[in-house]
Amino acid sequence: MASSPFDLANESGYPAWRDAKLAAYPRSIDELVVPLADPRHLSVAEIDAIESRCARANMAIYNAAHLPAADKSLPRQLSKQLGLVRLEGNYLADEDGFSSITPAGDEGSVRGEYIPYTHKPINWHTDGYYNALDRRILGMTLHCAQDAEVGGENALLDHEIAYIQLRDINPDYVAALMQPDAMTIPARMDEDNVARPEQSGPVFAVDPDEGFLTMRYTARTRSIVWKADATTQAAVKALADILASSEYILTARLRPGMGLICNNVLHTRSGFSDSPSHRRLLYRGRYYDRLRFDLNKAPARAA
Ligand SMILES: [Fe+2]
Repeated sequence: MASSPFDLANESGYPAWRDAKLAAYPRSIDELVVPLADPRHLSVAEIDAIESRCARANMAIYNAAHLPAADKSLPRQLSKQLGLVRLEGNYLADEDGFSSITPAGDEGSVRGEYIPYTHKPINWHTDGYYNALDRRILGMTLHCAQDAEVGGENALLDHEIAYIQLRDINPDYVAALMQPDAMTIPARMDEDNVARPEQSGPVFAVDPDEGFLTMRYTARTRSIVWKADATTQAAVKALADILASSEYILTARLRPGMGLICNNVLHTRSGFSDSPSHRRLLYRGRYYDRLRFDLNKAPARAA
């Protein structure tokens, strides 16, 4: 593997990488927005525009508000052109593997027992933090078909920034959160309450082949067990403090026809209100793939 800035042993290359990353990081959500004429058919210029946002922040927000927002082919085709194809389906997902995130409303429905399908806020997390390590969620899309009347914003933070801010405080904290048993989700608990075996894993991990950083995290305190040693406990506290106050946190309010496309960055959702005739509805896709930008730019090859 080529030397990765996320490898703690890489002390010579890290400072320059860190400074460049922070300098390039967007300080306004507007810098992440890319207008798209048709998400189903990206132009090379549009791919370049999305790529440059993702290079800076591991995420971009697209805007195609002029098209019918409830059309699922928008996020599906867009994702495909950017290398997101291996979609995770869970048992609450629609038949096509997207999850329709909307308040379940009626009492006693299965979805209504789980926070994503309510009006409640969702604390900081990356998607699929309870997955086994061979089913890492590397990419995520969130397409807004209908927004809330009030609230429902997403706070966003590139996980590479969280890594930098934690390493700035104490590199030992990063090491602690890279331990394979740093975070354990007990059996039978995840955000959708799907029955699963106990899952232990690191918070931060470096991909052994490509050197990119992945993050597996939830700020929830119930149904999660952190390694008991003092350094891990202090690291978890420091990370929570970063997520409470980082100057790099961006907040997006997705309007119909807008969406987030990302390498599974840290995010939240604020509580919201809507009405039966105006239900907030987002299509969420979770992928075993990371974003890539070379698919439609490579020279055409004979079939
Ligand atoms: Fe999420």
